[in-house]
Amino acid sequence: MNLAILASGRGSNFTALVKAVQKGRIKARIKLLICDKSKAFVRKRARKLGIKECLVEPKYFKSRLDFDKKLVKILRSEKIDLVILAGYMRILTPYFVKSFKNKILNIHPAILPDFKGANSIKRAFDCGCKLTGVTVHFVDEKVDHGPIILQESIALKKEVGLVKLEQRIHKLEHKLYPLAVKLFVDKRLKVKKRKVEII
Ligand code: GRF
Repeated sequence: MNLAILASGRGSNFTALVKAVQKGRIKARIKLLICDKSKAFVRKRARKLGIKECLVEPKYFKSRLDFDKKLVKILRSEKIDLVILAGYMRILTPYFVKSFKNKILNIHPAILPDFKGANSIKRAFDCGCKLTGVTVHFVDEKVDHGPIILQESIALKKEVGLVKLEQRIHKLEHKLYPLAVKLFVDKRLKVKKRKVEII
């Protein structure tokens, strides 16, 4: 199976996924990283880890649709079976989502459907939640919304500050995302409407 990772930033999930493949835990090939930001640190990680990297910058496209058409074209030419969003800071157009229906994954640093959107870790922390966590889900046309694959919570004890919480969230992400990708690659995920069955 051929995988592509889309990322815009730091890329710690990208590294976790590449390592899981390199260690043989996920039996698939990461064919490329697509990045939309020229200065993103994830691009350096890709070069260091020997993953092909493709920079596609929105400023060269007339519309979001044109941009996504270009991405879909690249993904098709690389014969990609699964698209993995890992800190990818753009909302996919319906065209993109339809082109890879139930073949796009995302990770979110909160227990969806709570704290959708940006700054979720801080928002959960600030509102005094006793629990927060990580969600891996299929991507549909709505933001942070598609069928949930894996979810794990973290208890927020009062001695834990925001920085420590962020570290714990990311550590959990680096465990959960490779696990979810492995389930997909091993064809163990069955999607029925909004429910994902692990077989
Ligand atoms: C992660 O917290 C992920 O849940 C969210 O964006 C962040 C990306 O972090 N979607 P990184 O770039 O993988 O380090």
